[in-house]
Amino acid sequence: MNGVSLIQFLIHEQRKTPLAKGGFTLLLNDIASACKAISHAVHRGALAGNLGLAGSENIQGEVQKQLDVITNQIFIKALEWTGHVAALASEENDEIIQIPSAYPKGKYLVCFDPLDGSSNVDLNMSVGTIFSILRAPEGVATPSTEDFLQAGVNQVCAGFCIYGPSTIMVLTTGNGVNGFTLDGDIGEFILTHPNLRIPPDTAEFAINMSNQRFWEEPVRRYVNECVKGVDGGREKNFNMRWIAAMVAEVYRILTRGGIFMYPYDTKDPGKEGKLRLMYEANPMSFIIEQAGGASSTGRQRILHIPPKSIHQRVPVILGSKNEVERIVNYHR
Ligand code: F6P
Repeated sequence: MNGVSLIQFLIHEQRKTPLAKGGFTLLLNDIASACKAISHAVHRGALAGNLGLAGSENIQGEVQKQLDVITNQIFIKALEWTGHVAALASEENDEIIQIPSAYPKGKYLVCFDPLDGSSNVDLNMSVGTIFSILRAPEGVATPSTEDFLQAGVNQVCAGFCIYGPSTIMVLTTGNGVNGFTLDGDIGEFILTHPNLRIPPDTAEFAINMSNQRFWEEPVRRYVNECVKGVDGGREKNFNMRWIAAMVAEVYRILTRGGIFMYPYDTKDPGKEGKLRLMYEANPMSFIIEQAGGASSTGRQRILHIPPKSIHQRVPVILGSKNEVERIVNYHR
């Protein structure tokens, strides 16, 4: 299958489900189109006047970049008219987004973060789009927020697109993880990274060390051991990375293993974590598990969390299985 386009790959997969009518394949193709347009907007950067602040805040109280707003609009506009989506939920919108009455509705709910790691954008560093696809409940014409609040194990598909030196789309539909590189000359995503697998062991960790004093003891213990390496209890020395864009950290882990943590901390006691469950932690956990890794809050498998709200935050510890299990054990 190496060298085939994303749409060829999806049609091939669709044929394995004889009753499939193609709506899901077309939805993923719509998302790929959105990501191509976002890739273009991100790469045009200052040439299109796209950098800098938008002058507004999102529901999380985060200052929005111009590109947060632009990419959100690109994603919504690419999906709302096609008839494959029942409703959308975005990091950038307080409420869920209904499909305008002029357009037909489909059977899928899509949660997305249009520009993950957007603080990187003015620095010309990697950013990305994350998405999670759920089924709308049978017979529901106008989905409500509650219809979105399904545990991560219910995801039909999860993916992200990273806008780095190349634009790469990573996808799972629950049957492994595949990566597709955008060939700008022909405007197609091409399968370049089939069947991505995460090694169970690693010597590389990623965490924002500046939060160290706010962590709980299990995370502090784990990171201290990594820092001490062979001079502490571990049999190897560790390397550290922090790109400040989850898409880039997860892509690195899919490529060469590693562990990424945004754990619970007491920096802002009102928050259960930093990362958002529905459009960051859940899709990334689905991808990581499908590639043979593990994902937990430290106390619970992320994909099992019953969501309470669209913008819920959770602690995230994901990556190479044996290291995630070690940290989970430290929490016991
Ligand atoms: O909002 C999500 C996010 O940008 C992630 O992509 C990234 O891992 C994290 O926040 C960066 O956090 P910090 O600002 O603490 O480095």
